[in-house]
Amino acid sequence: MTKVIYFAGGCFWGVEHFFKGVDGVREAVPGYANGRGTAPTYEQVYTDTTGFAETVRVSYIPERVSLQELVKLFFAIIDPLSLNRQGHDEGTRYRTGIYYCEPSDLPVLEEAFRLETQLLGTSPVTELRPLESFFPAEDYHQDYLDKNPGGYCHLPLKAFRYLRLVQDLKYLLGDETDQIARMSETAALIYERMHFFWVGFYRVCGDQLVLGPFQGPSACLRIGYGKGVCGTAWQKKETVVVPDVEQFPGHIACSSESRSEIVVPLLCGGEVTAVLDIDSTDTGTFDSIDAAFLGIIAEVLAPETITAPSEIK
Ligand code: SME
Repeated sequence: MTKVIYFAGGCFWGVEHFFKGVDGVREAVPGYANGRGTAPTYEQVYTDTTGFAETVRVSYIPERVSLQELVKLFFAIIDPLSLNRQGHDEGTRYRTGIYYCEPSDLPVLEEAFRLETQLLGTSPVTELRPLESFFPAEDYHQDYLDKNPGGYCHLPLKAFRYLRLVQDLKYLLGDETDQIARMSETAALIYERMHFFWVGFYRVCGDQLVLGPFQGPSACLRIGYGKGVCGTAWQKKETVVVPDVEQFPGHIACSSESRSEIVVPLLCGGEVTAVLDIDSTDTGTFDSIDAAFLGIIAEVLAPETITAPSEIK
């Protein structure tokens, strides 16, 4: 059985290309949703007076990818706080939205919005509405980025890299239960694919973080609660993004080459069990895309990092 969900996430060329690459997605079709009247042309929608939003119809196999996972990926690639603007594109046709057909999807989507609100500390401006209408776009918009490699795509290349990384990681970890093995594999895969300077884990042992599996130069062995970027992420139970380590009071410099850093906590039963720490030799390397995808990776390793109930009725 195939299910369908509609994502408006800015220019539909990139959004279509992204969702086509998701395991379990059968088809992604760009088109126009929830406007006035019938089948508009691209030129009409471009006037920004029709009410239609550039939208991608995503057909998926729920046994292979869940609605929760799709929505998480969707939130990872949009700016959910930007009203009527994504990337360089502006106008109501570029608003963000999730449009559903089955009322039974609503509780799952509402829970995803609740989690996203918790993560952002404020409500997304993304719409959550029933689908009213959808018209597939003209042929030349279908598979646009396949037909025009190098064509305009408002999504950064790293979103596509992270997607592949997350999917390969799930496959590689399989049903392995040993957490050290899982962390080792994860650190190696992120390091190899994303070319960061240092990728590794610190595990909570008593009142300290102790160095775990990592890739990159040698690093400090122990970090105290609330100390450095890692100890701060542990204390706050939040992802910490540091664009310039010199501006972060208390930053612990394991290497003088590190210029920016991101630390993502792994949670179990509401408690931090470890942190994933990544360093870059450039300033400003990490943004909301890194935070979102590394958050997804943290959930793969420690499923309870998701505060959502595992089953939503
Ligand atoms: N910079 C970290 C310490 C760990 S190293 O980056 C590997 C911090 O301030 O917590």
